[in-house]
Amino acid sequence: MKKNKDFVVVANWKMNKTPAETRGYMREFENTVAAENFKILEKKRVVFCVPFTSISVAVDSMKNFFFGRHKVYIGAQNCHFENIGAFTGEVSADMLKDSGVDYVIIGHSERRIFFGETDDVIRKKVRACLGSGLRVILCVGENSLEREEGMTRNVIKRQVSSAVLCFDKMDADKILVAYEPVWAVGARSSASLSEIDEVSAFIRSVILDTRGPEFSNKISLIYGGSVSNENINEIVKLKSIDGCLLGRASLNCSDFVSILSKI
Ligand code: PGA
Repeated sequence: MKKNKDFVVVANWKMNKTPAETRGYMREFENTVAAENFKILEKKRVVFCVPFTSISVAVDSMKNFFFGRHKVYIGAQNCHFENIGAFTGEVSADMLKDSGVDYVIIGHSERRIFFGETDDVIRKKVRACLGSGLRVILCVGENSLEREEGMTRNVIKRQVSSAVLCFDKMDADKILVAYEPVWAVGARSSASLSEIDEVSAFIRSVILDTRGPEFSNKISLIYGGSVSNENINEIVKLKSIDGCLLGRASLNCSDFVSILSKI
């Protein structure tokens, strides 16, 4: 981790928790961090990416409780690339922004796999989010076949290039790139420390080569895929990453707080 940056911790709840459950979780989270005098939030940026239906509850509790004094934000897990129109069932970036959302996960492997999102669609979504003033957590990563075939670097380069490096003008500190090897998401174990290090360094080098050091330094790189209470101590030491993204390990409030206390 670079010492001048806050460590980013993204909690991706996926399709879990009703608004009532969200309210209960947030209350527990607030009480626990307040009891510890907010110490566990120091030098961290925490982003809860909740289901659409939980956004207003989550935004209200965070705003009322933290009053903007601590870096706790609410994110969404998807949005449409058009801002208005006949797209039944979809939610736009402007709608999210106006609901108090600051971050949106784009290109998660579950969206790519189960909902057929292509690089093209993902690029349009990134553009829509940035245009609405949202920050983007762009997920990239190879699947197990691509890994076995030695295609990891090609896949990552293609995904990063088509969703980030294609834009001439963009605010680099509004983008976080999450390296999430598909085979490690929802799996038994994470990628090894050397794999995380190697691919993250590769992502940084691709960005650096194309856009130069100033742009590249502003982009935060995070790792996701089976991050847990057991491996967080080691993952946090990696110099190549600025944060991590947690799925299952963020669903139970006391487990999540325990992980935060180790960072
Ligand atoms: P996991 O999910 O931590 O449960 O593996 C990670 C993710 O959402 O990508």
